[in-house]
Amino acid sequence: MTKPLDGIRIIDFTHVQAGPACTQLLAWFGADVIKVERPGSGDVTRNQLRDIPDADALYFTMLNSNKKSLTLDTKKPEGKEVLEKLIRESDVLVENFGPGALDRMGFSWERLNELNPKMIVASVKGFSDGHHYDDLKVYENVAQCAGGAASTTGFWDGPPTISAAALGDSNTGMHLAIGILTALLGRDKTGKGQKVAVSMQDSVLNLCRVKLRDQQRLERVGYLEEYPQYPHGEFSDVVPRGGNAGGGGQPGWVLKCKGWETDPNAYIYFTIQGHAWEPICKALGKPEWIDDPAYKTAEARQPHIFEIFKTIEGWLADKTKFEAVDILRKFDIPCAPVLTMKELANDPSLRASGTIVEVQHKKRGSYLTVGSPIKFSDLKPEVTASPLLGEHTEEVLASLGYSKQDIFNLREVKAV
Ligand code: COA
Repeated sequence: MTKPLDGIRIIDFTHVQAGPACTQLLAWFGADVIKVERPGSGDVTRNQLRDIPDADALYFTMLNSNKKSLTLDTKKPEGKEVLEKLIRESDVLVENFGPGALDRMGFSWERLNELNPKMIVASVKGFSDGHHYDDLKVYENVAQCAGGAASTTGFWDGPPTISAAALGDSNTGMHLAIGILTALLGRDKTGKGQKVAVSMQDSVLNLCRVKLRDQQRLERVGYLEEYPQYPHGEFSDVVPRGGNAGGGGQPGWVLKCKGWETDPNAYIYFTIQGHAWEPICKALGKPEWIDDPAYKTAEARQPHIFEIFKTIEGWLADKTKFEAVDILRKFDIPCAPVLTMKELANDPSLRASGTIVEVQHKKRGSYLTVGSPIKFSDLKPEVTASPLLGEHTEEVLASLGYSKQDIFNLREVKAV
């Protein structure tokens, strides 16, 4: 089956998570992704948090499927020469080195554009070019703090909190993938490549858009009616942490279900959507609330929203999270069980849809990974194992015209 990105060759000069998540996605959709790694060591995640001695760590395998691995020392003249050849024959170069590393290697945007004017050069950095922090190296949690996620996540009486979701890393990689695809479409029209840059701070902030909405509402009216602080608590002049409150106009909370005393995940998320008030009252066996003026409108409910949640928890006390959702779904109430990683890993629907995939790896045996979250009617992305370090070095060099003797010579000087 031909895939949409067949024929697009990508030099994957990425490491850790933000860059690899981007190129992995493009590889699933058919791009020929060649991961360039330092000989002998490779991407640092090959060794990080290993669970099997001498086998690539899951951190690496789960972010580098469907790729080829070329080892190349791009600081050696012989390695630079190989990279230049590869650049001339590729469509995209993706990198997420620390600030200035590519320039120091001798591959500035100007140089890359000179070598291949059609090439798209895509970068992830912690902060955007020209930002007063643009010299900083950045990891996930740093980005969550810099992008507004940490100050708005957690409980009002606790410290700023980091989300487990990779808002700084994989999210930035997804933004970069959109940028690359846009630049590829642009190139079809203009014949020219361009530089695509995404910062982790910007990508986090993009997902915190509603919090910037709230900052402006707060400055105008002095309170935020959907936050737990309203109407009984105090607001300062910055958006507070709202615990588990719903971020839109629908009040919601994480509620205890049967077994919460011993199971830390025996909870559901329950949303009181305006039009669902009547079905909620019916589901809870509280038909008298339907027309009671103290409950009838969202505005009337807000002052005692936590009493309402308490009543719902009373109703949930003899139901597991799954039983509760099975009842509530019949009443068209937006809700879900709080699912653990174990439950997700074994979820038959996620297995069937290809969102959780089992992959065979030469050294590890089989492992689980998250497959494409994007589903197409005419493409079924197949997830293959991540490459061993340097697994495709000879293949890639041969495709660039290097003979066996040339490859031997490159190995002698430890350039590959
Ligand atoms: N051959 C030779 N040298 C290589 C090489 C290769 N194949 N691949 C990388 N290098 C060199 C780089 O040129 C750089 O050298 P220099 O600093 O002497 O110029 C060096 O390896 C290290 O690069 P760097 O990216 O700075 O690594 P680091 O481990 O110090 O920092 C990060 C890691 C993630 C903090 C940093 O890369 C960064 O801030 N990246 C941008 C933001 C980002 O993506 N962060 C999230 C990652 S999930």
